[in-house]
Amino acid sequence: MTETISAFAPASIGNVAVGFDMLGLALTNVGDRVQARKTGGKGVALAEVRGLDGEIHPYLSNDSRENTASIAAQALWDDHGDNGGVELKVHKGVPLQSGMGSSAASAVAAVVAVNALLDTPLPVEALLAYALEGEKYASGGLHADNVAPSLIGGLVLCPRVLLPEIVRLPVPEGVSAVLLHPDLQVNTAHARRRLAKSYSMAQWLEQQGLLAGFIAACAASDIALIRKTLRDVVIEPQRSDAVPCFGAVTEAARRSGALGCSLSGSGPSMFALCADNDARNVASAMEQACRQQGIGCQSWVSPMTAPGARIED
Ligand code: HSE
Repeated sequence: MTETISAFAPASIGNVAVGFDMLGLALTNVGDRVQARKTGGKGVALAEVRGLDGEIHPYLSNDSRENTASIAAQALWDDHGDNGGVELKVHKGVPLQSGMGSSAASAVAAVVAVNALLDTPLPVEALLAYALEGEKYASGGLHADNVAPSLIGGLVLCPRVLLPEIVRLPVPEGVSAVLLHPDLQVNTAHARRRLAKSYSMAQWLEQQGLLAGFIAACAASDIALIRKTLRDVVIEPQRSDAVPCFGAVTEAARRSGALGCSLSGSGPSMFALCADNDARNVASAMEQACRQQGIGCQSWVSPMTAPGARIED
């Protein structure tokens, strides 16, 4: 019988407020699954795409040229596959256009599954470039802040200037991430096109300072410094208007003890970092504030040490 490999890749928080396009954090308990098996065909084919309910996805087509999973897997197969083919089945666990790295999770799960079918599988870091091929198709830009944490887990520094090198950062002890997904959608490619193309020296200095301070604070488990630095003064002000519950949710997170709260990726999801013991309270405060605005939502609590993609039995 032909071997079928199944891989899971987690959702992720892009930017983490301070590091636009260059800092990402993996989440636990939410992600995409991709099954891959060799066929007698040629190249990578997409057999089916299923949604959160397990049914055939109502919007995502199974044209392999239009799905981040098959685009990424094809790039890997072109370089390292044999003369045969591979068939993929994608099961979405991450809502679309959620700011939770949905397209990245599909791309990462696909390359991890297909890699396991190769005669000589590549080391995990070598898969980044292939997963990025899929992500590029979806977001219209080259940024690894969802793909990198989804692939290797944890908190990852991945500025474009260093790619394909990525840096796993130390995470503070006793700090959890809360992710709130309101029932809204934001198209990342559109949100990226709307951003200003140039910024002032004052903005550059402020955001660089916050990023450097945040990374140092994580390494030192300095909670007060995390609280001081976890802010986005450049991108968030341009995007928060697209999320009607943004003000209410971020305010509720802060009032309930969060160290900071901002958009996850391009939104509409929002994330907060907080002391482990406060995480459940922060999550329910954020949910309550969102529902009070008449918007349904779902939340997840995750350690900052969430593992990256894995092969499943
Ligand atoms: N860094 C990307 C952006 C993440 O903010 O556009 C998209 O999820």
